[in-house]
Formats: sequence, structure tokens, C-alpha cells
Amino acid sequence: MLTPTIKPGLEGVVAAETRLSHVDGQVGELIIGGYPLETLAPNVTFEAAVYLLWHDALPDSAALAEFRQALAARRELPPATLALLREAAARKVTAMDALRMAAASLSLNTATTGDPRQDALTAVASFPTIVAAFWRLRQGQEPIAPNPALGHAANYLAMLTGQRPSEAQARGLETYLNTVIDHGLNASTFTARVIISTQSDMISAVVGALGALKGPLHGGAPGPALDMVFEIGQLEQAEAYLRDKLERGERLMGFGHRIYKVRDPRAEVLAAAAEQFYHADGNMALYRLAQGVERAAVRLLAEYKPGRNLQTNVEFYTALLLHGLGLPGELFTPTFAIGRVGGWTAHCFEQQQTGRLIRPAAAYIGERNRRLLN
Ligand code: COA
Repeated sequence: MLTPTIKPGLEGVVAAETRLSHVDGQVGELIIGGYPLETLAPNVTFEAAVYLLWHDALPDSAALAEFRQALAARRELPPATLALLREAAARKVTAMDALRMAAASLSLNTATTGDPRQDALTAVASFPTIVAAFWRLRQGQEPIAPNPALGHAANYLAMLTGQRPSEAQARGLETYLNTVIDHGLNASTFTARVIISTQSDMISAVVGALGALKGPLHGGAPGPALDMVFEIGQLEQAEAYLRDKLERGERLMGFGHRIYKVRDPRAEVLAAAAEQFYHADGNMALYRLAQGVERAAVRLLAEYKPGRNLQTNVEFYTALLLHGLGLPGELFTPTFAIGRVGGWTAHCFEQQQTGRLIRPAAAYIGERNRRLLN
């Protein structure tokens, strides 16, 4: 009998064709819907990026206005979802768990009909409302109703803080959401495709994807990268601090990647967005410190781990950018989900078009002839 080749983490297994995004880890390239990340992310609204993934073309101004309106009309949460968030906040569950539970309850929304397009609109539109409402409730504050006059990103910030964000803040968040909107067949996207491939519904696929994203090996922990910068505090301390960590065999958070062997192109885009944003808000000290820490870290990683090509990853500047926008560390992963749900839903549409059930095989290594005693 032929021994099957086992790929326990499915590395190198190509399980789908996609027009949504392409990751080349050797040259550090990320293409989103045909556009290089660095030309798309800082220049379009999040609504336009979602439309691009759903329709394989950027919208003209009329189509964008219509799409934006369709999303804005679905931002309100069903009363039962709000009640659930109150309960979750009272029990102090994490923001990711609250988002997962509330996302499942979106099926109660009257606009959610089981039609995948309607459900996808509801999911994308509702995520910011869920996260902002939960966060305010957990701080003992009342949720703020969505404002349909604001764009997706600006409205999220307004619902969190109660204040209309500056142009620079809204743009900074928009660039972040676009940067993380899709990234090949990562674990959560694959999860969504598996679920929808059984002819299950869009809300189920999105809830499953949230479950996969929550794990620290995927959604990541940009928080510790920022903690490291804060602990270093002053640039002169960077070398000694980082050297000490490496001598103790510890990992530097925000560096290294399974696929990227050069600087993660998302780090590039987020660094530029963070620079613009910190510049506009007049707080360049933290940005300069982070830049210096990055330079020292990359240099020391080359010294301690020669040949490993350990470069800055997406988490490092995510932390800096989201912190600059006033987001607490616990909201970093839920905010990632607010962007990535655009990609999950687009992958579900693609998977539905193939009509193919995803169903790999396992190699049986158990006993074969066990007998019951009587
Ligand atoms: N700091 C120090 N050393 C690192 C490192 C880091 N950030 N990332 C990898 N290495 C070292 C490993 O210790 C290992 O060295 P060794 O062979 O001497 O033992 C070598 O580089 C290869 O590491 P490996 O774990 O095989 O790489 P991977 O591809 O599985 O790891 C990550 C990818 C992201 C898990 C890893 O780089 C890491 O832990 N980074 C820090 C956490 C982080 O930033 N996570 C967010 C990712 S987006």
C-alpha cells in the first residue's frame, strides 16, 4: 500500500484558485485584487476595497456611493445583540469573544435573510458597531449610535470615542483596514471557505473565521511589540535591551515571519501611514523611537540569527498605528477582524462559485483489530 504524504500544517498545499490576493514572501510582494498593496491601501476607502474584492473591480463614484449607503444602512445592531453585549461586558469577557458571540447573533437582523450578499453586507457593516458598543459597555459607558453620514472607518472611531475623528485619524485607520483586508489562504480565511463549501451560510462562515483568528498564532499579539518599545523608552537603551533579550534566547516581538523572508510589505505601508499620522498629530517622538528600535532589532537579529532573514512583520507598525489612533491593545485583534471580514466574505463568494466541498483526508494510524471483551 502506498504511504500517503502528510502535510500536517498543509504547507505548500494549494487548495483554491483566487483573484483576491497574492503573497510572495521571497520578494515581499502583496497584491490585493490586482493592485500592489502600497498603491491601493493608502489611496482608497475601506468600502472601495471591499467592493473591489467582491466585484473584481474598483467602483465608479455612483457605485461607491450606493455601496457605502448599503453598508451604512446595516450598521444598527438587533436589540438582542445589544442585550448580549451588555451581558458579555458585565461578565468582562474579552473583546474577541464578545465579537464572536455577537456576530453569531446577527442572524437575528431582519436584513439578514440567508442571502449570502445581504448577510455579507450585514457582517461587514456590523463589526465596528459590535466592537465599539462592547468596548464602551465594558468601560461603563453607553454605546453610541452609528452615524450614517460618516464613512466606515471614521464611524468606528466616532462610536468608540464619541468624537468625530480628524481626517488624518480616519485615513490612518482606513489604510490599516485596507492593509489587512486579505492575505492569501491564511487560517481564518481557509476556515471560512471550508464552512461555506458545505453550503452553510455566510454568518456561520464569518463566526468560524473569528474563532480561528482569535488564536495567538494567527490574530497575533501586536500588543507585546508595542510593550517592548515602551519598555525600551529611550533609543540609547535599545541595543542593550534587545541584546539582553536575544542573549536569553527570547524572541523579539514584531519580527520574523513564516512566509516573508524580506520586510513584510504591510509593515512598509503601515509605517508610512503611522509616520503621516503621528506627524499630523504632532507626536513624532514615539514614532522615531519605534523606528530606531526597528533598525537596532533588524541589525541584531542578523547578528544573532545569521541567514534567517528575520525582518519586521506587520505587527510592529500595526501596534504603533493603532495605539496612535487611541485604540487599547485589547481592540487590536477585533480591529483586525473589522478589516479581514471584507476578505472572508469575498473568499466565501469565490468558494461558492466553485461549488466544491473542501474535504481532505487523514492517514489512519490507530489499531485495526481491537475486540470487545464480551
Ligand atoms: N526573534 C528572535 N529570534 C527569532 C525570531 C524573533 N522574532 N523569529 C524567529 N527567530 C529565530 C528562531 O528562534 C529560530 O532560531 P533557531 O533556528 O536558532 O532556533 C529561527 O529564527 C527560525 O524560527 P522559526 O520559529 O522556525 O520561524 P517560523 O517561521 O516558525 O516563525 C514567527 C515565524 C512569526 C512565529 C516567528 O518569527 C516569531 O515568533 N516572531 C515573533 C512573534 C511575532 O512577531 N509574531 C507575529 C507574526 S505576524
